[in-house]
Amino acid sequence: MNKSLNSLKEIFEQYLESHRFKKAPAALYEPNNYILDLGGKRLRPTLVLMACDLFGGVIEKALPAALTIEFFHSFSLIHDDIIDEAEIRRGQPTVHKKYNTNDAILSGDVLLIYAYKYLTTYDASLQKQLITDLTETAIEVCEGQSMDTSFESRNDVLEAEYIEMIRLKTAVLLAASLRMGAIIGGAGKEETDLLYAYGENLGVAFQIQDDILDTFGGDLVGKQIGGDILQNKKTLLLIRAQEMSKKNNDTSLSTWLNKSQFNSKEKINAVKQLFDQYEVLKYAEAKRDSYVQKAITALRSINQPAEPLEALIDALVMRTY
Ligand code: IPE
Ligand code: IPE
Ligand code: MG
Ligand code: MG
Ligand code: MG
Repeated sequence: MNKSLNSLKEIFEQYLESHRFKKAPAALYEPNNYILDLGGKRLRPTLVLMACDLFGGVIEKALPAALTIEFFHSFSLIHDDIIDEAEIRRGQPTVHKKYNTNDAILSGDVLLIYAYKYLTTYDASLQKQLITDLTETAIEVCEGQSMDTSFESRNDVLEAEYIEMIRLKTAVLLAASLRMGAIIGGAGKEETDLLYAYGENLGVAFQIQDDILDTFGGDLVGKQIGGDILQNKKTLLLIRAQEMSKKNNDTSLSTWLNKSQFNSKEKINAVKQLFDQYEVLKYAEAKRDSYVQKAITALRSINQPAEPLEALIDALVMRTY
């Protein structure tokens, strides 16, 4: 019990390696092997295994569900990169750039369907719970992604709306990964709910950090720095800067947001400069940390030692990669 983050990740990597796509047509399956081979942190499948392990479950039993979750995550990234017009993912060209958009859409679709397929390996009662969990979560992720996209053309997004949007697009999948692992591991309802609350708060902190890194991260992030600024994404940084601009009767930020033609570098630099002026980084970090605290409180309420999950917080939220 309580296996380390790295050993669980390693167990998952081996399982994934033996479940690569081999079938034709190559145009459908090769993009999926491509994105899966690019790596990534394997955070969500590791959470599935960790939660199962925490309650004394057999890790091997959680492997198909872990694969389900990583497939679902990768499917969401392929489609997210089309939506966000992103060119770089995990340090390499995004799927729709390397191949083409039609193949990226279909490869993503089939990956989502394979994600469900692996849940059918569980016996009836477990299968029903896991499929219900994934289905409800997947609906929420789509809702969050839709909110994210529609916020791009709005300039009055409130912080509370932003938090709800990131809870849906990101946090619920982290939380569901833990819940599915806990269910497989045989946890009780109360413990499962607390673990879900931990995952949800951690997920909100994780997405705030993702937004911070999109603007302030370095090469190791593996994405185009400033992509969110170019898309007018309503991140916490931008929402805070909008609030501060309003207070100061400063129209320079809204001028940049309303420009339809601009030089990318110039826009990124100008918006970043306003972020510095209004100290939005400090604000976002404090907000992130408040969600980390909530996550820790939920975790400590579980009557179970959970060192690997505590250790995960640093690796995750304070990630610089
Ligand atoms: C990226 O997730 C999508 C978000 C929800 C921010 P990760 O940062 O976990 O991506 P990988 O799997 O490690 O590449
Ligand atoms: C992604 O949010 C959320 C999902 C993929 C569901 P982002 O659009 O911020 O993720 P990155 O930054 O592209 O990884
Ligand atoms: Mg994106
Ligand atoms: Mg996105
Ligand atoms: Mg991002």
